[in-house]
Amino acid sequence: MKTIVLKADNKNNKAVTDKAAEIIKQGGLVAFPTETVYGLGGNGLEPEAAKKIYAAKGRPSDNPLILHISELSQLRPLVREIPPSAEKLISHFWPGPLTLIFKKADIVPFETTGGLDTVAVRFPENSIAREFISACGVPIAAPSANSSGRPSPTRASHVEYDLNGKIDMIIDGGHCEFGLESTIVDISSDKPCLLRPGSITVEMLKDVLGEIAIDKAVLTKLENGESPKAPGMKYTHYSPSARVIIVRGDSEKVIAKINELISKTDKGLKTGVIASEETKDRYIADETLVIGSIKKPEEIAANLFKMLRKCDHHNIDTVFAEGLPENELGLAIMNRLKKAAGYEIYDV
Ligand code: TXA
Ligand code: MG
Repeated sequence: MKTIVLKADNKNNKAVTDKAAEIIKQGGLVAFPTETVYGLGGNGLEPEAAKKIYAAKGRPSDNPLILHISELSQLRPLVREIPPSAEKLISHFWPGPLTLIFKKADIVPFETTGGLDTVAVRFPENSIAREFISACGVPIAAPSANSSGRPSPTRASHVEYDLNGKIDMIIDGGHCEFGLESTIVDISSDKPCLLRPGSITVEMLKDVLGEIAIDKAVLTKLENGESPKAPGMKYTHYSPSARVIIVRGDSEKVIAKINELISKTDKGLKTGVIASEETKDRYIADETLVIGSIKKPEEIAANLFKMLRKCDHHNIDTVFAEGLPENELGLAIMNRLKKAAGYEIYDV
């Protein structure tokens, strides 16, 4: 299959999204930008489209997809009820980087929900995403547009690298503003529960809801036999080919520890550090990749997946990353980084 890549540069957005919608209507797959990461879209009400998405990504089909809408009125037919907690979250955070889990209505196929009787719905803010979904006229099922297990794509070139020849079209809308996938909150049972942290932080959710439970999988590695509430959180994720090791604690100690670990690394292996603007000149690694300023967590979030992909392009074998405090945006950043590291962490 030939994958078409078209740039949406504001002047021609309508022509590009109309072309993409045509492909969706014919049962094809289109990758599109959102404010979080690029999504791999197909018709959300068509079981065959869901099957194609799983096949293109190499994703296990028990890992459900998120339905994306472009108007609030598209929500009601997809769900059995909209509880008061959902109403509150919607009025504060939609459109935006928040996904909500509802009890699903019958029209949502089990192929889309990985066999679950709940459905994830997201109303993205990105204008190209909204124009595209709106031109399709149906909810768009879309996981992140990476090969299963790889870092999520925040540039059209990342999607091309992973899925070229496996999907019909990529809409190139430049880089994604937030760079981490949406926050996921399950409001399908009595107590709202955070399943995946993101740019809508726990602190922001608490301001609106008063209280929110946090699924254990958000904070720690689950033991054998335990399963996360978001099925996707159990799979290996965000992994570059490099071994990723996190070192966290007081900044000076972190620098000393990383340099000690580098000096002990087998000389045949290429080492890297994912460092901040403030610490970038302190390391003895073969390559230092600068992720952003410690003072700007949003910058670190936006660049994280790009840095993990860079490790591969630079053929780095072992990469060390500085840990961050796990509050506000730090919780979401560390959640992705810990998975990329397979929970290999030094506390100093
Ligand atoms: O920001 C995002 O959410 C991006 C963009 C494209 O919108 N999408 C995204 O999709 O990250 P994906 O498929 O890579 O991650 C969706 C996560 C998975 O961990 C999946 O298991 C979980 O959401 N999920 C989907 N439906 C669910 C459901 N009904 N119950 C629990 N978890 C669900
Ligand atoms: Mg994903």
